[in-house]
Amino acid sequence: MVPPLHAVIVACPAQGHFNPIMNLAQLLAMRGFFITFVTTEWMDQRLLKAASKDAAARDREIQERGFKFRFIAIPDGLPPEHGRTSEPGELWLALQTLGPALESVLTVTDKSVPPITCIISDSFLSCTVEVAKNLGVPRVIFWTTCTAYAIIQKNANFLLSLGHIPVKEEDLKSKDKLITFLPGKIPPIRPTDIVSFLREKYTSEIIYSLTLYESRFQNIADYVLVNTFEELEGGKDAQMGLSVNGCPALAIGPLFLPNFLQGRNSVYSMWEEDKTCFQWLDCQAQGSVLYVSFGSIAIKSEKQLNELALGLEGCGYPFLWVLRSDIAEGKSLDLPEGFKDRTKDRALIVTWTNQLKVLSHPSIGGFLTHSGWNSTLEAISMGIPMIGWPYFGDQFLNCRFVKDVWNVGFDFEGVDVDEFKVVTKEIVESTIRNIMEGSIRMKLCENVARLNEAAHKTVMEGGTSYTNLNTFVEDMQNIAKSKV
Ligand code: UDX
Repeated sequence: MVPPLHAVIVACPAQGHFNPIMNLAQLLAMRGFFITFVTTEWMDQRLLKAASKDAAARDREIQERGFKFRFIAIPDGLPPEHGRTSEPGELWLALQTLGPALESVLTVTDKSVPPITCIISDSFLSCTVEVAKNLGVPRVIFWTTCTAYAIIQKNANFLLSLGHIPVKEEDLKSKDKLITFLPGKIPPIRPTDIVSFLREKYTSEIIYSLTLYESRFQNIADYVLVNTFEELEGGKDAQMGLSVNGCPALAIGPLFLPNFLQGRNSVYSMWEEDKTCFQWLDCQAQGSVLYVSFGSIAIKSEKQLNELALGLEGCGYPFLWVLRSDIAEGKSLDLPEGFKDRTKDRALIVTWTNQLKVLSHPSIGGFLTHSGWNSTLEAISMGIPMIGWPYFGDQFLNCRFVKDVWNVGFDFEGVDVDEFKVVTKEIVESTIRNIMEGSIRMKLCENVARLNEAAHKTVMEGGTSYTNLNTFVEDMQNIAKSKV
């Protein structure tokens, strides 16, 4: 007899962290887990507002799927008027103090809730270490990033001790100062691949310190899960590079894919989705549309965005452009004069959309992306070649692997070294042509089609990610049995 399993899932209040861990929660619920899904009150309210739902409707919806699932929102300690995402350092600092609030909601006696089997924590929530210890349950670290990035991040203090961090300006430019000694047999790492927060002249002191601080706690875990797949990233060896003292470390992604393939919409958006774009996409020729989106956080200067607009205009392809209301360094963008008129027959601009649905639409032929890990995995899983234009964090590594390791896209020369480099409209235009037409496109499409097939195979019954997730479930069953 297996006792009921109960996973407490603790999510970071950020779009790119929320999507994959929510998909994981639902896959575990499908496998019979009782799920307590914890996020901050601010995030909870934001998601409900964007979906125009109240909490009761949201809870009903998920329970109607047959899931045993409860949402819990805890205060983050910041005042209501605080910008959160506009002050990421302060938000991150606040997240380190969630422990007591988390522990107190988890220790409320409720007979309808089974005993906790494990805490599955976003890898950047060090506050869960103490909570798991106090509750006497395993702490499972969940990486929402790719494995290679996670290995660098986990070893950040080691890299610091060897002088690779902070990443020096001259090293960024040299590009041949390769790091080849990290565990997991990952491809050689360039200075530009190291998380941008650890560059000498890139980021705020607070984010630099927090990145190193969190790294210490990424080395305290009983189990490690990562949203990638073995066929993409170095088989089992790479994932074992994330193991803590020999604990299991398993690739279980792409996590959105099983839910998506079974028609479950597991996307919880922080912005209201524009639904009109699908009628527009239906009217476009197959593979003809360039999709342009920079995820939930990346911003650019107005000058750069205007140059991009003119490049999109000049390339001649239809395009769907997600222009968030804060995209121009916190403000909405004033597009170049006459741009909307001149492009109205082949362009659609929205403030947010259902990206998965867009990428799976037959008219999409290419993706100009900021190379966030979710966007990268989604494009690979939908077989779409990419132009990467990284902004911060892990995105430089993702973009480089897209271009040099997996050969499924391009980038813009030099933006990985110089954050202020303005990409001209001419470069935008010619790079778009390279992924949308000709023999280079054909090669990229062939490569991405292979990865697309592997992504689908890995999440299906018998596939490696599918099997790895089942192994995790069995291991949790054994833990629960041992406690009876
Ligand atoms: C951040 C980091 O940038 C990323 O590199 C890290 O791995 C996770 O946290 P973000 O910048 O938002 O995330 O990028 P990304 O990882 O690509 O996640 C964005 C998510 O928002 C994707 O799942 C994408 O499908 C979704 N999205 C984006 C929408 O649903 N609609 C949109 O219009 C744009």
